[in-house]
Amino acid sequence: MINENWYYLLHPKVVTLITTLSKEGKVNAAPFAWVTPLSDSPPLLLVAAWYESHTFQNITKTKEFVINIVPANLKKEVEVCAKPFPAGVNELEKAKLSSVPAKTVKPPRISECMAWIECVAKEIVKKKDEYSFIIAEVKHIEVKRECYENLLPKKDVLLHMGGKNYSTIKFK
Ligand SMILES: Cc1cc2nc3c(=O)[nH]c(=O)nc-3n(C[C@H](O)[C@H](O)[C@H](O)COP(=O)(O)O)c2cc1C
Repeated sequence: MINENWYYLLHPKVVTLITTLSKEGKVNAAPFAWVTPLSDSPPLLLVAAWYESHTFQNITKTKEFVINIVPANLKKEVEVCAKPFPAGVNELEKAKLSSVPAKTVKPPRISECMAWIECVAKEIVKKKDEYSFIIAEVKHIEVKRECYENLLPKKDVLLHMGGKNYSTIKFK
């Protein structure tokens, strides 16, 4: 028997908000921390997502998504986006976040975020009540110049410690 929170040992993880579109074109945004690079070349990443989440369902249908890297000052907004709103509700409106078009995919970027990774799903594994994940190709990245230097964060990025605990990087 292992402690049910064993995976906290692999935290902190960078908090992201993933934006997707439903088949009907409605915007969805939700926090995801279990996002990991899988291969640098070709540029692939993996998102572990509950199969009933709107994010997973939207990606299954429309393939495209944006990973928005969240600054530490958006913790409250992340918690709003994490709520289980009904399908079709735009969490960005609920959290009072604004969006701008992405460059290579249809779902929007979140303006207040620090960086954006535009992705297209290549492989989707759905194991009901066990695990589900998406392997995606990175099509485009962009960062706010004032937030990064050589792709390393200069400004505080929000980190998830597990459960309701958060942290950030402190720069000296
Ligand atoms: C900081 C944070 C990180 C999260 N990371 C994940 C994750 O990696 N995978 C996942 O399936 N759910 C994760 N969740 C839970 C989802 O965000 C939550 O179930 C959300 O309601 C899904 O929204 P959706 O149905 O609009 O996709 C996380 C929640 C928080 C607050």
